[in-house]
Amino acid sequence: MPPVKKEFLAKLIDGKAIAAEINRENAAETAVIAKEYGAAPGLAVVLVGNDPASQVYVSSKVKKCAELGFYSEKIVLPENATQEEVLSVVDSLNRNPAIHGILVQSPPPPQIDEQAIINAIDPAKDVDCFHPLNVGKLLLGDLSGMLPCTPWGVIQLLDRSGISPAGKHAVVLGRSNIVGKPMAALLMAKGKNADATVTVCHSRTKNLAEITRSADIIIAAIGKPEFLRGDMVKEGAVVIDVGINRIADPSAPKGMRLVGDVAFDEVAPKASRITPVPGGVGPMTIAMLMNNTIRAFKAAMKKK
Ligand code: GUN
Repeated sequence: MPPVKKEFLAKLIDGKAIAAEINRENAAETAVIAKEYGAAPGLAVVLVGNDPASQVYVSSKVKKCAELGFYSEKIVLPENATQEEVLSVVDSLNRNPAIHGILVQSPPPPQIDEQAIINAIDPAKDVDCFHPLNVGKLLLGDLSGMLPCTPWGVIQLLDRSGISPAGKHAVVLGRSNIVGKPMAALLMAKGKNADATVTVCHSRTKNLAEITRSADIIIAAIGKPEFLRGDMVKEGAVVIDVGINRIADPSAPKGMRLVGDVAFDEVAPKASRITPVPGGVGPMTIAMLMNNTIRAFKAAMKKK
């Protein structure tokens, strides 16, 4: 967590602590599965190329698998891998009964058609919830299958902090397939942890600040460093920052530092609750990925 002024500490939503709690639950469930089935949830992580950030993400996913007692496979393909080679890896993972979840790290190199790869993943093993079938189920309000990791992590942060979105105006900044769109779908679903009135804003939105000022809950996932400023937020709003941006900072040890999509020092005085970057949404994504893999394992056992 970054250094945070003392007066804001009580407002923080500690994603690191909440993710650790969920991972304790994941580990406990994995232990029960081991006893009941003599088996473990299996996750395959596929990395194409050598993007440094992707390498870090993939390694931390594999490490988390080991910590929780999962079986895992890491498959690394070269930067110049062909579409057919990636599809062939996905095909063999689809048929591997020890693998319950498949994740192809995004973004792949430019010669790879990412959507075609996603479409080839068995929807029952699509632990990212990126396959059109799972995206469709999500939009239909069927939350029984795979759930989108980062947006579902945000819902958990709210729930475990005692914040209900029901009847509130939730404003989602950003319309990506990974965060913005599935986030809006979850918040507008019927039932517990949902029932919000949702507005999605993006780069072409007019009067964006007017809209964010009417928000009870703001989810910032627009990919622009410190985009949400203090004067764009109403007093008492809950602010969730999904952004991870590296910005130059000559005073920092590595010459750069991580900031979110929220100008924390301006927004924190007005917010009732706020997530830090790092240590907010970030750790939740992996925790929910692990949880999806457990869900996929259980669904596979039911089919047998
Ligand atoms: N790249 C950044 N976030 C994600 C994610 O949640 N899943 C995958 N597959 N790739 C990503």
